[in-house]
Amino acid sequence: MTKIKAPTGKLGILTPGMGAVASTFMAGVIAVNKGIAKPIGSVTQLGHIRLGKRTENRNPLIKDFVPLAKLDDIVFGGWDIFDDNMYESAINAKVLDKTLLDEIRPELEAIKPMKAVFDRSYVRKLDGPNVKTATNKMELAEAVMEDIRRFQADNNCDRVVMVWCGSTEIYIEAGDVHSSVEKLEAGLRNNDPAIPPSMIYAYAAVKMGIPYANGAPNLSCDVPAMVELAKQTQAPIMGKDFKTGQTLMKTIIAPGLKARALGIRGWFSPNSLGNRDGEVLDDPDSFKSKEVSKLGVLEEILQPEIHPDLYGDLYHKVRINYYPPHGDNKEGWDNIDIFGWLGYGMQIKIDFLCRDSILAAPIVLDLALLLDLAKRSSLYGIQEWLSFYLKSPQAAPGLQPMHDIFLQNQKLLNTLRHLMDEELITLLGMDYYY
Ligand SMILES: NC(=O)c1ccc[n+]([C@@H]2O[C@H](COP(=O)([O-])OP(=O)(O)OC[C@H]3O[C@@H](n4cnc5c(N)ncnc54)[C@H](O)[C@@H]3O)[C@@H](O)[C@H]2O)c1
Repeated sequence: MTKIKAPTGKLGILTPGMGAVASTFMAGVIAVNKGIAKPIGSVTQLGHIRLGKRTENRNPLIKDFVPLAKLDDIVFGGWDIFDDNMYESAINAKVLDKTLLDEIRPELEAIKPMKAVFDRSYVRKLDGPNVKTATNKMELAEAVMEDIRRFQADNNCDRVVMVWCGSTEIYIEAGDVHSSVEKLEAGLRNNDPAIPPSMIYAYAAVKMGIPYANGAPNLSCDVPAMVELAKQTQAPIMGKDFKTGQTLMKTIIAPGLKARALGIRGWFSPNSLGNRDGEVLDDPDSFKSKEVSKLGVLEEILQPEIHPDLYGDLYHKVRINYYPPHGDNKEGWDNIDIFGWLGYGMQIKIDFLCRDSILAAPIVLDLALLLDLAKRSSLYGIQEWLSFYLKSPQAAPGLQPMHDIFLQNQKLLNTLRHLMDEELITLLGMDYYY
């Protein structure tokens, strides 16, 4: 049996970025702990896992099957360029009702952001006062490490996990400075422009062996240097970009169409959203990070190279429109031109009137709890089994990431079975008949 350390003591969850997603996540966990609400959308809290044969009827809750940290053992912290506490941030985000927030106001007001590592050249639409100063990026990373140590001591935390919930940075391609730990560390000392703030936080966490997940599409921990460092310090890492709204729908629907050998000619996906995230994504360079993250999904699921008749001519387009009146309530519209028997065309239209942060908050919780489990199970480096939660999942070099949500779900559940020495489920089931 895999030796898993027990989740004793407190777990600190630190988020660089304490805006809509982070405040909705923190307020939600506090409300759940007070018995005011239920953790809907959190697979670790409400999902069950089948064990053994179907006839055994063993379907425990995941949280009763694997040793996860308890929600009331979680302590929250983080960094933001604005110094609003989490009550103020949640009010500004306009995601949760004020009546709910008022019931947990003291707990939220006690969570205050630490000074951020920030540089406007990576998020041009934002600027704020709560920012660290230093002569180089390595000093900034060391200051973040010092923040983590202080947070851990002040809050008596046994363990800490970091989940990036900050704004989407401009598009940067992985280059030479990201190719090894040595080059990355030299780059941090030389203020290399290819190292954005998200990578400085990731470096600080991974250097300390702390699990790190990236909820935005910027590179952050998705470069060879960070994978190498994670192996050295035995830190589990996973990126990138929370799989919510439209991409969630895409990775649910595309596998079904493909399973039935239905063709797809076009998939046009405009979104409109009016929150701060939408404003940041209004900058073409930040949008480029998001676009790359969103576009990869269909190609991998549909495999046009082995299905040229069905998906060889697929036209896929994604657009994000900043539309303030919608606030955090995003509209994800999909027009899917499909074709069936003998090539006859049909259309599917989806209008997903979703709530961005409501979909993202349980992902932050699950990623944090499962990365903490990974760390206690001595798993480190890329945690591909957590692809389920991400739009643009990391995978080993030379390996295509998996996007099909049903395969991702199988992989997640089988990994949990494996960790607990339970039989993996193949769905073959011949022995029921022969
Ligand atoms: N909500 C979703 O469904 C969803 C899905 C996928 C990805 N994301 C990503 O999650 C991130 C957060 O989304 P949100 O809706 O909470 O956005 P938001 O704008 O409400 O919050 C982001 C916060 O990050 C802060 N920030 C920016 N740079 C920072 C830095 N260097 N250090 C510390 N703080 C910094 C901003 O001040 C802001 O408060 C975005 O990158 C978004 O693209 C969100």
